[in-house]
Parts: sequence; C-alpha cells; structure tokens
Amino acid sequence: MDGVCHISKQFLSCVPIKSFVWRKKYIVQDGRCKIHDIDHLQWSEDCQMKILNKTCFHEIGKQFPPSKKYQQYFLKFLISKVEENEQPCCDQLCELYVATLQDQTCQQAYKSYFVPSANAYATLEESLSFISNGTTGLVTWTAALILAEWCLSKQDFLCGKRIIELGSGIGFTGIVLLKAIEQLNYTFTDVHPNVLSVLKSNIAINSLENENVAIKQLKWGKQSPILQQSYDVVLAADVVFDPSIIPDLLHTISMLLCRNKDAILVLVSVVRAEKTFQCFLDGLDKIEGLVYEDLVNERIPEVFYFDRDCRYRILVARSKQCLTSFKIKK
Ligand SMILES: C[S@@+](CC[C@H](N)C(=O)[O-])C[C@H]1O[C@@H](n2cnc3c(N)ncnc32)[C@H](O)[C@@H]1O
Repeated sequence: MDGVCHISKQFLSCVPIKSFVWRKKYIVQDGRCKIHDIDHLQWSEDCQMKILNKTCFHEIGKQFPPSKKYQQYFLKFLISKVEENEQPCCDQLCELYVATLQDQTCQQAYKSYFVPSANAYATLEESLSFISNGTTGLVTWTAALILAEWCLSKQDFLCGKRIIELGSGIGFTGIVLLKAIEQLNYTFTDVHPNVLSVLKSNIAINSLENENVAIKQLKWGKQSPILQQSYDVVLAADVVFDPSIIPDLLHTISMLLCRNKDAILVLVSVVRAEKTFQCFLDGLDKIEGLVYEDLVNERIPEVFYFDRDCRYRILVARSKQCLTSFKIKK
C-alpha cells in the first residue's frame, strides 16, 4: 500500500491536484530505486476505501482538514479515476463528495506535511490565496520547503544551535526543524501582525510552545532588542522579492552576523526576477568582512512535494573569520 501512503502525504499537504502523482512513486529502498504503482489495485471499492481512510478519513485530515475546495477537487478527481477504470464508485466516496458540495460552512484550512526524520506531521493553518490581508506571509512558499529540506540534511550541524528566522511567515521551516532536530533554540520573526498571530497558533497546534521557542515582531532595517542577542544561524526563505526593501534586509542581516563571528546566514530564494536577486547579491558583496557561498550544485534529499523544476538559489553567508563552509569541493 505504498502508493496509498504516497497519495495520503500529497493530500494532507494539499499538493495541487494537477501536480498529483497518482500512478507511480519512485522510492529508494536498500539503495535501489523501486517503483510503486497503485494501478495494480485497479481502483476497486476496497482500494477506494483504503484511499479515503488515508486521506479524508485520516486522523490528521479529520482534526486539521484541508480546505473544502481542495477536498472537493480531490474527490472529483478520484471519482473520475474510478470511472476511467470502469469500476463502481463506493457509497462512501459518492456520499462524501455530495457532502462537500453541500457544505457551505467556511472552515479554517490546514496543510499537514509529513517529516520522515521526526515521524510526525507539521500542521499549519494556511490561507487559500498567495496574498491576503495585504501580506504574502499567510501561506507557505516553496523556498520554505527547500530551506527546511536543506536544514534537515544538516541536522548534526544544527543540533543545539540558536537560530533566528527572518520573515518566517506562518512558520513552516521552524516548525519542521523544531520537530526534527533536538535542542534548538528558535526565534521566529516577522513584521505583519496577522502573520504573527497565525504563526503563534501554528506553534500551538504543533505543541511547540516552550522556553526555547520565541515569536517576535521584527521589521528589517529597524533597531530591536532581538538584534542585540547572539545567534548561531540566521535563516530566511523567500524574503528577496521587493528591491525597495533589500537595503533594510541587508542591514538586519549584517547586524546579526556582526554580533557573532561564527554565525552563518542560510537564505533560500525562488528566483522570479533575476534583477532583484542580483541587487540582493550586489548588496551582500558590499558588506565589509562578509563572504557568501552559492550552493548551486547542492543535492538535497527530497522530503516534501513541490515543483522541483523551479529556479532557486541557496546562499550561505558568513564573516570572513567564520570557518563553517558547505561548499561542495570539486
Ligand atoms: C514571501 S513571504 C515568505 C514567508 C516564509 N518565509 C515562507 O517562505 O513561506 C515573505 C515574508 O516576509 C515578511 N516581510 C515582508 N517585509 C518585511 C519587513 N520589512 N520586515 C520583516 N518581515 C517582512 C512578510 O510578512 C512575509 O511573512
């Protein structure tokens, strides 16, 4: 039933139905690539029930359901698959689909991402649109998934570190890391009050409220007591999007890296406008005493589902005195 587990993980994290991988899953087992094909189940009523139990009836899915719209698309697609294979639809599938069509109540929508190394889900309340309430911070962006994957591949290095995240949005990266890596001291920061409030609730949903986890309002370029503290790692995902705020962002980064000569910045950006990203790199170049590495060829183990063809950059910046390097030696 590996194919069904694979469907389950995609459903709970609301992978767009158009990008859903239904038929085949290539997994590495014992160092060998194996193909799991769920078509051998032939979409029988038994197979349909197994899929429903791992998706809409999944314990996590019931407690923290994906949006009604998403469930509707998923069930509609499931029905079309069953019909394509000339099988009868089981009663539960039909009933559930009709119920989602009739349900007009507006509920909160959640996404639950499976974190294998923690054997746990990171569940987040997320907005349905990329921009809402005047902010881009109420959804999880692809860069956050990439940053989390990179960090998960460096668990030994990160264990026990003091981390501050800039523009953390609703908290995906930090929540995943706090679930998977021990003894982290993690400070989430963002500027937007709505984002901070959803972030706080997401931390609570994941039972991560403790003295090692802080949520702070921080506007780049402004003074703040948070910037007087020393951190080992500064994380940032998808914060390079507006040329006008790059100087402020660079100012905050340089303040944090100046405090601790051994500190590093790990920044991930999905590059939508090359010019904007170049403007950020030019600014980074001008910060005295700082060097950066572009981890362009870094191969990271795949953990989450997203479009792997997107153009992204992973940068690690540090003071010249800092010896930490992740650059792959050629
Ligand atoms: C595109 S979202 C990325 C959110 C999250 N890191 C992710 O990748 O899912 C950018 C985030 O930066 C925050 N932000 C924008 N301008 C900011 C500023 N001047 N100071 C601090 N945070 C800011 C926004 O509130 C938003 O949460």
